[in-house]
Amino acid sequence: MPARIVIAAVAALGLAAGPAAAQGSLNLYCSVQVEWCQAAATQFQRETGIRVNMTQRGSGEMLAAIRAEAQNPRGDVWFGGTGDPHMAAAEENLTQAYESANNAGLQPWALTQWRQSERRSIGVYAGAVGFGFNTELLARRNIAAPACWADLLEPRFRGEVQMANPNSSGTAYVIIATLVQLMGEDQAFAYLRRLHPNVNSYTRSGTAPIKAVARGETAVSLSFVHDAVTERNAGFPVAWATPCEGTGFEIGSMSIIRGARNINQARRFYDWALTAPAQRLGFEVAGQLQTPSNREAPLPPGAPDLSQMRLIEYDFARYGRGAERRRLIEKWDREVGALPR
Ligand code: G6P
Repeated sequence: MPARIVIAAVAALGLAAGPAAAQGSLNLYCSVQVEWCQAAATQFQRETGIRVNMTQRGSGEMLAAIRAEAQNPRGDVWFGGTGDPHMAAAEENLTQAYESANNAGLQPWALTQWRQSERRSIGVYAGAVGFGFNTELLARRNIAAPACWADLLEPRFRGEVQMANPNSSGTAYVIIATLVQLMGEDQAFAYLRRLHPNVNSYTRSGTAPIKAVARGETAVSLSFVHDAVTERNAGFPVAWATPCEGTGFEIGSMSIIRGARNINQARRFYDWALTAPAQRLGFEVAGQLQTPSNREAPLPPGAPDLSQMRLIEYDFARYGRGAERRRLIEKWDREVGALPR
């Protein structure tokens, strides 16, 4: 079940109920980790008096929900999650164009997302795909850590790898689209079929595999590497690597939902979420280590530095197209997910 959290403690925050009610409310759809969603909801409410109702879901699941609600939208703004489903939502006319005065302070890649989505989606952070692994578990089993995509196919990783399911998780879709761009589609699907016996589970959420690594339930995960650092900072024996052949990345995005009932509050949240203090919140309150899109927001200490990685030129326009996304996910279901292990 998605986490539905109503930040109702307006009085406890020292605001009178009257002014808060006058500010109205905001239905925040959120696809980053729930700790960051809660921190953003609480801080925005504290600063503006706007009452926030927050729902957290994975990026693929959120796109499906917004589609299902298109005739009667319940969400106002969709914060975070991988960029491809935001692009698909834009193309399907599920979100609406907006130009914030705060665009001027953003990194070029955040604005590329905005332009390519015809101003319906904007970059709030970036993060790269890679491997997370449990160093104690690997040492105990005498298994060398993976350094390349090719390593994961080796028998030493039989049943040791976990990744998410691309139907629900934007992370998993970025991984599949990355492989297609690196290897070509036929090779990428051959790779995924060969990887399948080494995968012990395709999880619903993109961050479940790295949490399983942290708890020692699986040795290796395919994850955003910033999520691996978050687990290591929480005290778990986790390390990460980006594949030697090169890797892909996300532009974590934000969009205003078409037909939003609280449009003014949605725009106010959108403007706020692009500011440096709001972007620092992810790290300061929730330990999140993505690369912020506001040029004044520093890379959090210890965060993976994308400029030091071998990144592909991820084609967000192509892989964010609704039909392409659907086609690749259906193909994965048929040719990989459905295979016996
Ligand atoms: C985590 C990552 C984010 C990413 C999100 C996608 O929260 O830290 O950078 O955008 O997962 O989640 P999903 O469940 O859609 O893969």
